[in-house]
Amino acid sequence: MKSLILVTGGTGYIGSHTAVELIENGFDTVIIDNLCNSKPEVLDGIESITGVKPYFENFDLCDLDRLRQFCKKYKSIKAIIHFAALKAVGESVEIPLDYYHNNFESLINLLRVMGEFDIPNMVFSSSCTVYGQPDKLPVTEDSPVKKASSPYGNTKQISEEIIQDVIAANPKIKAISLRYFNPIGAHPSAKIGELPLGVPLNLVPYLTQTVIGIRPELRVFGNDYDTPDGTGIRDYIYVVDLAKAHVIAVKRLLEEKNKNPYEVFNLGTGRGYSVFEIIRTFEKATGEKVKYKIYPRRPGDIAAVYADTSLANRELGWKAETSLEQTLLTAWNWEKAIRNKK
Ligand code: NAD
Ligand code: UFG
Repeated sequence: MKSLILVTGGTGYIGSHTAVELIENGFDTVIIDNLCNSKPEVLDGIESITGVKPYFENFDLCDLDRLRQFCKKYKSIKAIIHFAALKAVGESVEIPLDYYHNNFESLINLLRVMGEFDIPNMVFSSSCTVYGQPDKLPVTEDSPVKKASSPYGNTKQISEEIIQDVIAANPKIKAISLRYFNPIGAHPSAKIGELPLGVPLNLVPYLTQTVIGIRPELRVFGNDYDTPDGTGIRDYIYVVDLAKAHVIAVKRLLEEKNKNPYEVFNLGTGRGYSVFEIIRTFEKATGEKVKYKIYPRRPGDIAAVYADTSLANRELGWKAETSLEQTLLTAWNWEKAIRNKK
């Protein structure tokens, strides 16, 4: 019998790619999403890639009664992958209470039903934002967690603590937190990808929208950082590689191969790229020209961060496999597909 995995936020960017990988690895999936940052058509994309439409329940995880009803309906959930959260750093500074309410309430409700309905395993979406600007690069899982620079970042730090407290109180529960670096790209089929609402905040969707003609130019935020070419350095990880790590993490928990009831892994490539390197690699991969202009630094940005991924390599047997060039090409193909300019 196939194991049933609950994917919260499964119509979102990383969740939808993970649902595809789960299905392709023989799992049954049920998605909970309230569609506050995604569209139901994503389910068609998942079906057209895998031939399987995941079960889907549209409701807000902050509604505990509704979540309990859900657990009575889907009795045999073996693990939860918890993606659902609000995630815009800048917005979280403007409406912190909405972020604290949504991200904590949904997590607390899930942890509650895990106890009540004997769901033993959780994989949690954390972020490299918990490290702030690290003192040493690359950043390992042992690097200190720095004071969060935004309410969003704070929700990730405190969520990790909440999960650990619950595990300490209930030995039946196990969890893995995955700290993502910068996820980019889209499924190679161009049937699912990132759908930023309004003006994109992140580099790659802004870049692809510039090249397709929606934005006049890419704004490069600062060329005076203490980095080789002066622009910011990040560890850009292909979303499909990232999704695969979730399947491995779920299997690790199901097969009880975890070394501790709570584990943390960095998920990145282990290599940092500057904004200029991203522009050049995109141009090489696609043959398109990127129009850009230097702007002042963006408040809150750090100069450089990239992962030490040796723990995930060793313990999960996982490694990011896709080149930056291939990854940027998928982002471009997705941009063209959603603008019907294939
Ligand atoms: P996303 O916004 O595309 O997906 C999140 C999904 O959760 C959306 O479909 C949204 O509708 C849903 N959702 C939010 N609150 C909900 C609620 N209360 N009830 C039900 N559904 C709800 O985001 P993503 O980029 O796929 O990110 C997934 C997770 O990974 C998030 O927890 C995010 O904080 C984390 N993360 C993302 C990045 C990144 O750069 N994308 C980096 C590090 C960590
Ligand atoms: N950048 C630009 N122009 C843009 C957008 C970004 O030059 O239009 C630069 C930034 O200054 C930075 C780099 O490109 O140097 C990457 O910026 P992103 O906004 O794409 O990503 P961040 O590293 O700032 O943040 C992302 C997510 C956060 C998450 C963090 C770590 O947006 O939610 O990765 O996981 F917390």
